[in-house]
Amino acid sequence: MRAGISKATTTTRWAPTPTGLSDAGARRAGAAATRATLWQTLRKPRATRQTGRVKRLHLPQTTLSASNIILGLMRISELTDDEIRTLVSTAIDEGIDFFDHADVYGGQPHFCEKRFGDAVRFTSSEREKVKIQTKTGIVPGAFDFSKEHILKSVDASLGALRTDYIDVLLLHRPDALVEPEEVAAAFAELEASGKVRNFGVSNHTPGQVELLKKSVKQPLAFNQVQLSITHAPLIAAGVASNMAGLDQSIDRDNGILDYSRLNDITLQAWSPFQKQFFNGVFLGDRENYAELNDAIDALAAKYDVTPDAIAVAWITRHPANFQVVLGTTKPERVKAAAVGSDIPLTRVEWYSLFTAAGYTLP
Ligand SMILES: NC(=O)c1ccc[n+]([C@@H]2O[C@H](COP(=O)([O-])OP(=O)(O)OC[C@H]3O[C@@H](n4cnc5c(N)ncnc54)[C@H](OP(=O)(O)O)[C@@H]3O)[C@@H](O)[C@H]2O)c1
Repeated sequence: MRAGISKATTTTRWAPTPTGLSDAGARRAGAAATRATLWQTLRKPRATRQTGRVKRLHLPQTTLSASNIILGLMRISELTDDEIRTLVSTAIDEGIDFFDHADVYGGQPHFCEKRFGDAVRFTSSEREKVKIQTKTGIVPGAFDFSKEHILKSVDASLGALRTDYIDVLLLHRPDALVEPEEVAAAFAELEASGKVRNFGVSNHTPGQVELLKKSVKQPLAFNQVQLSITHAPLIAAGVASNMAGLDQSIDRDNGILDYSRLNDITLQAWSPFQKQFFNGVFLGDRENYAELNDAIDALAAKYDVTPDAIAVAWITRHPANFQVVLGTTKPERVKAAAVGSDIPLTRVEWYSLFTAAGYTLP
């Protein structure tokens, strides 16, 4: 049986343990206020069910606290404005206050950012309660970390998103021709003007981050990387270190996981449900992942949640405190996945998913 969104609407949720910051009451009140104003803005009825349960993290090297679940907007180009509003308000209702964009999403520059900006139109008080992240650096046929491109791209992102500032700007994919001084000059200007408040990278190795740090003065607080149970080389290589003849042992990212933990860089996991690189979801793929789906279904039954939640929990359970970037366009799947924000999988359960996905414990 494939992981279904229907189960998410009928399941009694396992109740996560409150975690995160000490001012939980104030946070809950703040989250309720955020939801109320957004709901009013969107002319939606208030939800009556319990909401806002996702775990919150203080994000090191920043002044931000945010949900450990992020809504990614890469796939919204075909949605109607109403569907975008419902997707976003559903996320906020779940306590998700962090939204991930890129200038390149949507097939033409800034298209998904503009769809989001035009559809959602946060009031200024709503805007203050959410975090908007976007990325720059991918252009047709090349990667471009020049100062000129970064500045131009951010200005266009601000316009498309209808906002005065970006909470987090990421360099999207490593530019082989990067000149760290150019990045540093761009970041300094963006910070001084108030257009960007925090900075980070995506898909970068530790060496590439260190190279940038030689010139960039702002903390590089984030690295967004591909991670799902079935695409986990950044975790799996370390588990099988130094095993000659075992492909899993190959370090493909020069130790990005340990480097990020050592340097307080928040890792964000993109494509948390994809089998590999944009080739469909492993949930329900019994032809290729029968054992994994059995293991996921067993844990879903144990915790009384959906398989989606278990797939997310495999990432959130890791002590590196990942943020998980969801790419679904379906509000029901946002709700189902959000439940995986803080499920206390045991070590044996976590490893059972890892091995069921095909990884080896030497
Ligand atoms: N930094 C980078 O280089 C990078 C690269 C790629 C993506 N990203 C970011 O990461 C976000 C997530 O990436 P992603 O969209 O690839 O992640 P994902 O959440 O693994 O995949 C989403 C896709 O899987 C489908 N899906 C999810 N759950 C499903 C289920 N249970 N059954 C069937 N289909 C299901 C969704 O369809 P429905 O819409 O129908 O639910 C959607 O097409 C993006 O939005 C973007 O913000 C970053």
